[in-house]
Amino acid sequence: MEALIVTGASRGLGAHLLDEGRQKYDLRIGLSRSELYAVPGEAAANSRIRVDFSQRAEVEAAAASLCFGLGKTEGLTALTLVHNAGTLDPLLPAIDASAVLLDESLRVNLLAPMILSAKIGAFCKQQGIKLQIVFISSSAAKQAKRGWSSYASAKAGLEMYAKCLAMEQPDIGVLIADPGIMDTDMQQQIRGSDEANFPDVGKFRHYKQSGKLSHPSVVAKNLMGLLQAGFWQSGDLVKLV
Ligand SMILES: NC(=O)c1ccc[n+]([C@@H]2O[C@H](COP(=O)([O-])OP(=O)(O)OC[C@H]3O[C@@H](n4cnc5c(N)ncnc54)[C@H](OP(=O)(O)O)[C@@H]3O)[C@@H](O)[C@H]2O)c1
Repeated sequence: MEALIVTGASRGLGAHLLDEGRQKYDLRIGLSRSELYAVPGEAAANSRIRVDFSQRAEVEAAAASLCFGLGKTEGLTALTLVHNAGTLDPLLPAIDASAVLLDESLRVNLLAPMILSAKIGAFCKQQGIKLQIVFISSSAAKQAKRGWSSYASAKAGLEMYAKCLAMEQPDIGVLIADPGIMDTDMQQQIRGSDEANFPDVGKFRHYKQSGKLSHPSVVAKNLMGLLQAGFWQSGDLVKLV
């Protein structure tokens, strides 16, 4: 039996990943703050954990609950964990960001995936479950943008964490995936941002007008296809579109 865990599964790419995983995974678990939306046809997830990744105690509790539940799942041989949850906030010049907003950003985008990877990595090692972990990153990890300092720093940190993990744990398959630009709430937030805080906003409005955004279902299909085909090595960074 194989299980799929997707963080940030209530909408956007995460919701489509859970839906796309229906063919391959017997058990699909979504994590987010809000209700999972119903994907037309069938329910996308067998199970859902409500968690706010900006709260460390909630992340630890979610990890413990996942390990408990998975430990009781008979015949579980393989697990895929996709760190997809993310937030752009604060979309502000670096010196205007408050300590509270910076703290939240790093907790959601960087610390939560690190805590979950550690807990679930140790659990799978102990139980002899084959584990692969996908880190959803962004071109922002490599390309500086005015107004995106906290998001971009967190994504760069996430990529480095993934590379260290891949080096340390040869039994875990670690993949870093850049989804490109997708038509989700996150892009809507970008387009609605203030030019004073994010001077490149016009470029992103043009992406939408000129049909440059990928549908998240296409990106989800590409990632699931890649995982199934296995044409990658641990520590690789792939572009999904
Ligand atoms: N959209 C793009 O063009 C683009 C480009 C490059 C990279 N990415 C990356 O792709 C991933 C998915 O992006 P998306 O566009 O699908 O984003 P989205 O539509 O904004 O969805 C973000 C997801 O993250 C969850 N989330 C946010 N804050 C959370 C918190 N504090 N605790 C728990 N869950 C939280 C949200 O769930 P709740 O609100 O229900 O908690 C939601 O399910 C992100 O890692 C993003 O950085 C996106």
